[in-house]
Amino acid sequence: MATLLLLVFVALSSLTGAKNPVVHPTTPSLGVSSRLQHSWAQYSPFFAPNPYTPPAKHCKITQVNIIERHGARFPTASAGAQIEASLAKLQAVPKYTDPSLNFLKNFTYDLGHDDLVPFGAAQSFDAGQLVFVRYEKLVQNALPFVRASSSQRVVDSANNWTAGVAFASNQKSQPFLSVILNEALNDTLDDNMCPNAGSSTAQTNTWQVIYAAPAVARLNAAAPGANLTVTDITNLISLCPFETVAKEKPSAFCSLFTQEEFDGFEYFGDLGKYYGTGYGQELGPVQGVGYINELLARLTGRPVVDHTQTNSTLDADPSTFPLNRTVYADFSHDNQMIAIYAAMGLFQPSTPLDPAHPDSKRSWLASQLVPFSATMVTERLDCGGKGREFVRVLVDDALQDLAFCGAGDDGMCSLDAFVQSQGYARNDGNGDFERCFA
Ligand SMILES: *[C@@H]1O[C@H](CO)[C@@H](O)[C@H](O)[C@H]1NC(C)=O
Ligand SMILES: *[C@@H]1O[C@H](CO)[C@@H](O)[C@H](O)[C@H]1NC(C)=O
Ligand SMILES: *[C@@H]1O[C@H](CO)[C@@H](O)[C@H](O)[C@H]1NC(C)=O
Ligand SMILES: *[C@@H]1O[C@H](CO)[C@@H](O)[C@H](O)[C@H]1NC(C)=O
Ligand SMILES: *[C@@H]1O[C@H](CO)[C@@H](O)[C@H](O)[C@H]1NC(C)=O
Ligand SMILES: *[C@@H]1O[C@H](CO)[C@@H](O)[C@H](O)[C@H]1NC(C)=O
Repeated sequence: MATLLLLVFVALSSLTGAKNPVVHPTTPSLGVSSRLQHSWAQYSPFFAPNPYTPPAKHCKITQVNIIERHGARFPTASAGAQIEASLAKLQAVPKYTDPSLNFLKNFTYDLGHDDLVPFGAAQSFDAGQLVFVRYEKLVQNALPFVRASSSQRVVDSANNWTAGVAFASNQKSQPFLSVILNEALNDTLDDNMCPNAGSSTAQTNTWQVIYAAPAVARLNAAAPGANLTVTDITNLISLCPFETVAKEKPSAFCSLFTQEEFDGFEYFGDLGKYYGTGYGQELGPVQGVGYINELLARLTGRPVVDHTQTNSTLDADPSTFPLNRTVYADFSHDNQMIAIYAAMGLFQPSTPLDPAHPDSKRSWLASQLVPFSATMVTERLDCGGKGREFVRVLVDDALQDLAFCGAGDDGMCSLDAFVQSQGYARNDGNGDFERCFA
């Protein structure tokens, strides 16, 4: 009888969606170990390095600012072409000396390019569900305001996210994508506006020669005449994540490489991000300034002050940059999120990443900073009492230490201290933005 009553109750509450909504995950398991997935650098699917911790009881979250990377995608068109060229070298070999390569005789590369894969769309949908579950009251208080950079995969992620929020709320909250920022114009959600910024090629090349050497030797012995280079190894190893997220089952390329080689691939990605738009790139952090200034405007409820990547027409108009919402969600790219972390002061290593010697204790890990569907959340909290407004930042659910504004173990800075700490952004990047063009 008690069981029956419980069942009736569960059925009723799931019909009405009345109490404690939960996430109904739609992302399938990929069938590869988490150890392996976590060594795919920026091609790792989202995972939480630390579980989300709610704020102290006496604090109430009053505003949530989300910036999220699109979900898992196919290789970009240019990466796909390079992968195909490396595969062609391997597949041109008439006879392999190692049977583990025999699957290549009948292997066809058939991935699309640039767009989300269904797994990636599901990641964004689940992320939307999670936001409703975690911040239900705030979402119900006012519709989340949603923007996206204009790449199709980013727009698709935003729309799948809003569908996830609507689903979790039983269609009571139906947010929609309001602003698409053109990547050819002023766009705070893309790293498209700094032509003088350098690249990470020197550093990644240095490491590639080191990490890929054993695989070059092994595969060239197994495939005589293929003449694979270290670049081919990086192309081929990337097929493990790309095929796995596209087909939702382990790619044969995952077993062609050792865990140590995947760890090397992770570091290749870490260097790419660090020297691409992160602290290792002189003109990296400045590309995150526009977003930080928009974030400060939302946190303080004051108009945007910025002379970098913002579109002042959009940001001065309450219909395209409102200040009266409680949840803001922006959809973006990995390189741009790295620039934003660096502009804010997150994840700064005490010494620059050494291209030849990875520090095994480093926290600059692309798989944790910008996996597919990576999420940075800036929460504003009201904790009562004097100086009552505070800020916390979470990246992929993990609470950040915010040492740069004097936070303690609770990761909280007063709103004032946080705003003060963002001098680089408030000063338009101390002249760095001009250097993007001059
Ligand atoms: C090759 O692939 C095709 C299509 O996927 C399949 O039908 C065939 O059985 C495969 N042949 C071998 C030898 O694996
Ligand atoms: C925000 O302000 C606009 C007017 O600028 C108003 O139309 C809208 O209803 C307000 N939204 C909320 C959630 O208060
Ligand atoms: C979700 O993303 C897919 C692309 O993978 C897209 O085709 C679909 O339209 C998106 N869903 C919504 C609700 O926009
Ligand atoms: C700013 O946004 C407006 C409205 O979408 C658009 O017409 C204009 O081209 C944008 N300007 C720049 C420089 O991004
Ligand atoms: C590999 O290199 C050898 C010797 O330089 C050359 O004869 C052969 O054609 C090359 N094979 C391929 C697939 O390029
Ligand atoms: C776009 O950005 C440039 C560079 O900061 C700036 O000069 C221009 O005023 C911006 N345009 C708009 C519409 O905000």
